[in-house]
Amino acid sequence: MSEQRSIRSFVRRQGRITPGQKRAIQEYWSDYVLDSSCGWSALQETLNLSSPIILEIGFGMGVSLHNQAQSNRQTNFIGIDVYLPGLGNLISLLQKSQLENVRLYYEDAVEVIQRVIKDESLDRVQLFFPDPWPKKKHLKRRLINKTFIELLSQKLGKNGEFVLVTDSQSYFNYTLDLFSSRSDFSRADSREREATKYEKRGLALGNEIYDVTFKLSQQN
Ligand SMILES: C[S@@+](CC[C@H](N)C(=O)[O-])C[C@H]1O[C@@H](n2cnc3c(N)ncnc32)[C@H](O)[C@@H]1O
Repeated sequence: MSEQRSIRSFVRRQGRITPGQKRAIQEYWSDYVLDSSCGWSALQETLNLSSPIILEIGFGMGVSLHNQAQSNRQTNFIGIDVYLPGLGNLISLLQKSQLENVRLYYEDAVEVIQRVIKDESLDRVQLFFPDPWPKKKHLKRRLINKTFIELLSQKLGKNGEFVLVTDSQSYFNYTLDLFSSRSDFSRADSREREATKYEKRGLALGNEIYDVTFKLSQQN
């Protein structure tokens, strides 16, 4: 088992939990949320892993993840976030739509990927609007770094994709720089998708949106 990371990409926020989110957490948590200590076998027992697997890091309130899973019921979705109201909101949406192709983790995404995900098993990893950590002294908190890209290269299957969407030009350029030193990843066309909550907020502010996809063209 991997050690707990000392520098994390998030600060746990309490956030206000609505009565509906609280009810979803109390009644349906165990239907959707897995614990990383149960490993890959917990996913095998609850999903049909012969179908493609998309993993989304930091789904926020989960609306876009719910809608993707609803429109692609034959695809498996693994969502990871540490924001409890967001988990409550997404569990409520999943339960109302009776979706069975989604499982969630309420833990640090890097630790979940290290502990749970089998090598070469993922078709896509999505990171929509990661916390940008713009100050120089906080750059080390950014989720994307050399170690994270190495982890992606282990867990994505051949032609697997990593998608980053952000309105931070600095995060975008920093990511391009990191991937430019990797011969195993190449740029690919981004797919059409629904805008996330943070994306809508960024667009309303007039921010430019940077949407980039890297494809794993060869396994190391
Ligand atoms: C800026 S919000 C974006 C939410 C959503 N993707 C959107 O675009 O509306 C970033 C989210 O990532 C989550 N997050 C940040 N680092 C994380 C980590 N290491 N593991 C899991 N979730 C993380 C935060 O809790 C937060 O919900």
